[in-house]
Order: sequence, then structure tokens, then C-alpha cells
Amino acid sequence: MQNFTFNNPTKLIFGKDQLDQLKTEVPRFGKKVLLVYGGGSIKRTGLYDKVMNLLKEIGAEVFELSGVEPNPRVTTARKGIEICKQEGIELLLAVGGGSVIDCTKLIAAGAKYEGDAWELVTKKAFAKEALPFGTVLTLAATGSEMNSGSVITNWETNEKYGWGSPFTFPQFSILDPVHTFSVPKNQTIYGIVDMMSHVFEHYFHHEENTDFQDRMCEGLLLTVMETAPKLVEDLENYEHRATILYCGTMALNGMLNMGYNGDWATHNLEHAVSAVYDIPHGGGLAILFPHWMEHNLSVKPERFKKLAVRVFGVNPDGKTAEEAGMEGIRKLREFWNSIGAPSRLADYDIDDSKLDVMADRAMANGEFGRFAKLNHEDVLAIYRASL
Ligand code: NZQ
Ligand code: ZN
Repeated sequence: MQNFTFNNPTKLIFGKDQLDQLKTEVPRFGKKVLLVYGGGSIKRTGLYDKVMNLLKEIGAEVFELSGVEPNPRVTTARKGIEICKQEGIELLLAVGGGSVIDCTKLIAAGAKYEGDAWELVTKKAFAKEALPFGTVLTLAATGSEMNSGSVITNWETNEKYGWGSPFTFPQFSILDPVHTFSVPKNQTIYGIVDMMSHVFEHYFHHEENTDFQDRMCEGLLLTVMETAPKLVEDLENYEHRATILYCGTMALNGMLNMGYNGDWATHNLEHAVSAVYDIPHGGGLAILFPHWMEHNLSVKPERFKKLAVRVFGVNPDGKTAEEAGMEGIRKLREFWNSIGAPSRLADYDIDDSKLDVMADRAMANGEFGRFAKLNHEDVLAIYRASL
């Protein structure tokens, strides 16, 4: 295990009817609030009205930025930054899924940065401060509600990159499972795939003595796999929504990966696909992750075997580590297929015509992946296998 410092400053407020806590949280930061939201789901569910009423009760002056896209665009963040600078916004409030929160993070940092926000995303510059922001999460998936990361797309150049800073943790996040009841089945599935993928990214590393971390990862995966099939058949089940919501946050808030660094190549591969084709992140991961696993099985077969045995119930008797690991990968595919996740790029009408463009995007910063370094050839091989 490596040395580590753990510091996650986000106040997590979880459970039924917790929205009212906006009345105590928001005034801690000021009166001028920029409400950031997406394409309209919060208006359809009535959450928008509830938030506005609470903000009115505390006398907040509310400005709005709506229309944040899934795979949020830097152009939208720039609009929000403009509002913050012009109006002297004191607090941002993101109400939505990961895309709304990620966009809010760039607005928060961009509002305190002189140059163009894309420089923060491409790491040409680093945030030195940010406006405070809170979130009301409506979709279990990314963990953005309790981490400092943000993923932003530049549609003009077909680039999509993750960035983050110590100043872009939410000050508070309100998670009421009821707010996720209306998430459609497909988005629910993408979210489940995404949180499982975050755990897989953690799980594949070369560090020794991570027994407890491994068990936490395995416990989270087992819990999600036990709950997901029930949830997709019963989308308004409070207990299932609560379990998945909590798992999504825990999968990427730093709790599982203290003392080691995960791989993260598959996320880079997926971001390159959605930068070019604008597909849902979780859908892309469901297609790519099993192929990444097969491609790298031989790097450390024992690790794949451990996952296969402990999480996918594979009986290792009489099998080599590679055989057991391969059976685990097959079972992962079967599980994702069984809940309705996509399995081929063709499911999104993606053919081989832009494989090189995607590979170039994925290789923008050279070889990548900590468990296994991927070069251009590896990337193309994984994309080709995923067609
Ligand atoms: O825009 P609205 O109308 O709100 O609709 C959204 C959107 O169409 C809808 N939705 C959200 N909550 C809903 C709802 N519909 C009905 N009822 C609700 N309660 O769902 C659609 C997808 O929303 P989005 O926010 O895009 O999904 P998600 O949370 O999966 O976020 C995906 C983005 O996060 C990035 C991804 O790359 C992608 O850009 N990621 C961010 C990470 C992070 N910050 O830590 C890590 C992840 O690995 C990921 O890369
Ligand atoms: Zn993800």
C-alpha cells in the first residue's frame, strides 16, 4: 500500500425529503445563486419548482443556466461563467446528473480564472480557486456529486477530457433516491454500468497489500449486481434506488482507492468514442470494458481470477488463472446483457470509418493506463474487437 492523504470535503446529505436542507446550506454561501440544470427533466418531475420555492423562501436571488447537454459542452460552461462574472454569483447550484454537475464545476473554476475555460480542461492552466457550489443529484452514475472531477466536451474539435482540482469538490450534495425514480430504464442501466466500471478501474492495479480495498470493491460490485436486476424491473422502488444511489457515490469518491492508483484506460477509450459519436458514457463502457479486460488478461491473470472467483462466482478448480479470468469476463458480459446494456459499437451505429480519429483522440497525451500501458495499436485492437 502506498502512503496517502484522504480529504473529501463534500457534505453528503442522503435520504427522503432532504431537499429542505437547501434552506440551511445555501445561505452559508450567499444570496446570489446560479441554478444550473439540463434539458428539462427537472421541470417535468416538479423538482425545479420545489428548488425554486425553497430558494425563494430564503430570499435568494436566482439566475439560471439551463440546457446543459449530456456530455456537457465547454460552450455551455462559458455561458455560465459569463453570468457568474456579470452578476457576481456567490453560489452555484447544480440540479441534475453528472453532466450538469461537471459543467457546474467548470463554471465554478472558470468564473475565477482570467483565461478561457478550455485551458483548465486541457490542463494548460490550473485552477487556483473556484466559486462554491452545491448539488442536488437526480441520477446515480458518475460519483461527480462527491468528487472533484469533471468531464467536458469540445464539440468543435471532437475532444472530451477529464480534469479536476482541489477546489472543485461540491460543498454539499443532496441525494434523495426519490429524485432518481424518473430516470428512464436505459439511463438507469448506463449508470449501473458506469459505477461498476469505476470499481473495475480501481481494481486493476499492481499494488500489494490492498486486501481491505479489494474487499470493499468486491462488496460494492456484488451489491450492485444483486440490486440492479430488481431495480430495472421496478424503477420506483425506494430501497433499490437508495442502494444504487449510495453505491454510485461510493464508487468514485476516493473511499475505495486509498493507497493505490487504478488503471483508468477504459475511461479514456470511452471518452474518445463519445467525443466523436456523442454516445452515453455508460453505454460506451459496457461495450469497451470486457474487451479491455480480454486484451490485458495476460498482464496479471491472478488479478482477473480473483475478480472472477469472488464477484462472478467462478469455480477455479482445474482451471488456469487465465481460464478462470476469462470465465469471469464472460460472466460480466452476460450480466450486462441481462440487464439490457449494449455490447457492440454497432448498437450505436458506429462502424470502422472513424477508428483512427477515435484512436488519435485517445492517444492525445501519449500512451495511457497504469495497469497496462496502451499504445496506438492496442487502442485500435480494442476498438476493432468492440465493433
Ligand atoms: O438533461 P436532463 O433533461 O436533466 O436529462 C438527463 C439526460 O438526458 C437525464 N436525467 C437525469 N436525471 C434524470 C433524468 N431523466 C429523468 N429523470 C431524472 N431524474 O439523463 C440523461 C443523462 O444525464 P447525464 O447527466 O448526462 O448522465 P450521467 O450522470 O451519466 O453523466 C454523464 C457524464 O458524466 C461524465 C461522462 O463522461 C458524461 O459526460 N463522467 C463524469 C465523471 C466525474 N465527474 O467524476 C466520471 C464518469 O466516469 C464520467 O466520465
Ligand atoms: Zn465513468
